[in-house]
Formats: sequence, C-alpha cells, structure tokens
Amino acid sequence: MTPQQIELVKSTVPVLREHGVALTSYFYKRMLDNHPELKNVFNLDHQATGRQPRALAAAVLAYAENIEQPEKLAKAVEHITTKHVSLDIQPEQYSIVGENLLHSISEVLNVPFESELIEAWKQAYLQLAGILIGVEKQKYDQLAAQNGGWAGWRNFKIVSIEEQAEGKLFNISAADQQAIPTANAGEYISVKVHVPAKGIEQPQQFSFSSNQDKAQYGFLVKSQPEHSEYDVANILLSNYQVGDEVAVSAPLKG
Ligand code: HEM
Repeated sequence: MTPQQIELVKSTVPVLREHGVALTSYFYKRMLDNHPELKNVFNLDHQATGRQPRALAAAVLAYAENIEQPEKLAKAVEHITTKHVSLDIQPEQYSIVGENLLHSISEVLNVPFESELIEAWKQAYLQLAGILIGVEKQKYDQLAAQNGGWAGWRNFKIVSIEEQAEGKLFNISAADQQAIPTANAGEYISVKVHVPAKGIEQPQQFSFSSNQDKAQYGFLVKSQPEHSEYDVANILLSNYQVGDEVAVSAPLKG
C-alpha cells in the first residue's frame, strides 16, 4: 500500500465505525442475497440477534486502524483464524466477503465503487485476507497431520444421548470408524445440522466440559428458551436421534 492509501483508509475508519450497524447490515444482506450458499456457513441465529456478525466488519476496521502495526492484532488473528478453521472457511470465500464489504463501504461512505478510496480499502482488505489465509492454511495442515486428525468436516454418528441435569449429552463417533484425536476440556468442535424445512445447514460450536480420550466425543446440548428456527442446539434436541449423523470439525483450543 502507498502512504496515501494508508492515510485514506485510516481517515475513514471513524465514520465507518460510527455507521457500524448500517455497514454490517448492508454487508450481510448484500452478501447473502448474492451468495445464498453462504447461508450454510454463517449462523443465521447469530445474524438474527446481531451478536457475532458485527465482529467481522469490526475486525476489518480494527485492522485498518492498526495497518502500520499489524502485530498489535496477533491475538485477534489467532482468535479469528481458529474460529474460521472450525467452520472450514476457504481462501476463495475471501473474495466474496471482500467484494461485498467494499461495496458496503462505498455505499455507507457514499463514494463511487471505482474510486481511489475504495481501491485503498481493497488493498487493506487483501493484506488482511492474506494474513488470515496464511495462518488458516497452517492450522488446517496441523489438524490433518494429527493422529486421527482431519481438516474441514467429517461425518459423525450419534451413538447415545444421555439426560443430564443441565441438558443432554450427545456422544458421537466417527462414521468412518477410524481413529479420532483426543481433546482437552475447554476445546471446541463445530457441529453442523440440517435445518428443518429450510433446505440449509447450520453450524454451531460446542466446547467439551471434560477431557475426551475415548473413541468418541461427548458434548452437552442445552435448550435455549429464546431461540430462532436456526438454533442448532434446539434442532439437535428436537430432531436428532441415536443413529443420525452430523458433520463435525476437529477439536480446537478456543
Ligand atoms: C478479512 C476478512 C475477515 C475478517 C476480518 C473476519 C473476521 C471475523 C471475526 C472477528 C469473527 C468473529 C469471531 C468470534 O468471535 O467468534 C468471524 C467469524 C466468522 N467468520 Fe470471518 N472474517 C473474515 C473473512 C471471512 C470469510 C471469507 C468467511 C467465509 C465466507 C468468514 C466466515 C465467518 C463465519 C461463518 C464466522 C462465524 C460467525 C457466526 O456464524 O456467528 N469470515 N470472522
């Protein structure tokens, strides 16, 4: 990036932040309208509550603000890439997010898409995307290299469902009956389910409350009183039985 581009980007962060909600809503609406397949990737329950979706745009702004000292964001990069890897986010998806984010920035700032300002933001986005893609590649490689490990999604069968005081413990084992890595309490997996009558899938993270050292994983599913039809916990509790399969990503340290 040129010094002018860096200046342009940094000078527009405050106004974008001020319009953070508009930026985020416009961005998600545009992206999910143009790429409905991403409805299988983003958790639509989180979209409804606005909880997590804001994080993506906020992280891009935080990066832009610290563009001259990207090392300041090391912790954020670690957190984001871990979450992305748990959701099997792939490099080619970065161009979709980038295009939609740049269009949203152009809309919110009311500047033409073909402008120096948006070109500067494009360079900033590409720089950040490059960092994330690189770290994610390392993490996928590490997961795949583990004993019994895998990268991306793997089918697991529900072997038992135990009633517990706080919810139901779903015990799952690999559908291919091959080895799986052990995991420690606190590590998490993503579990992907089919959403009834919507024709889509939805992922959600579940963390382990104890060490997992057998040929299966057990995760606790708690009913959420206030939930949308996309809530994975409630879908598991109401629609899934022993013998059914779910897609699962490998355990990661949160
Ligand atoms: C430079 C680009 C990106 C940045 C800065 C970014 C940043 C973030 C952040 C900060 C979170 C929240 C992490 C958490 O606290 O849990 C997140 C979550 C997520 N990101 Fe990204 N992300 C980027 C690109 C992408 C791409 C290309 C995809 C795939 C289409 C993607 C999909 C997701 C999903 C599905 C979540 C979980 C959100 C949810 O369902 O609640 N992100 N990202």
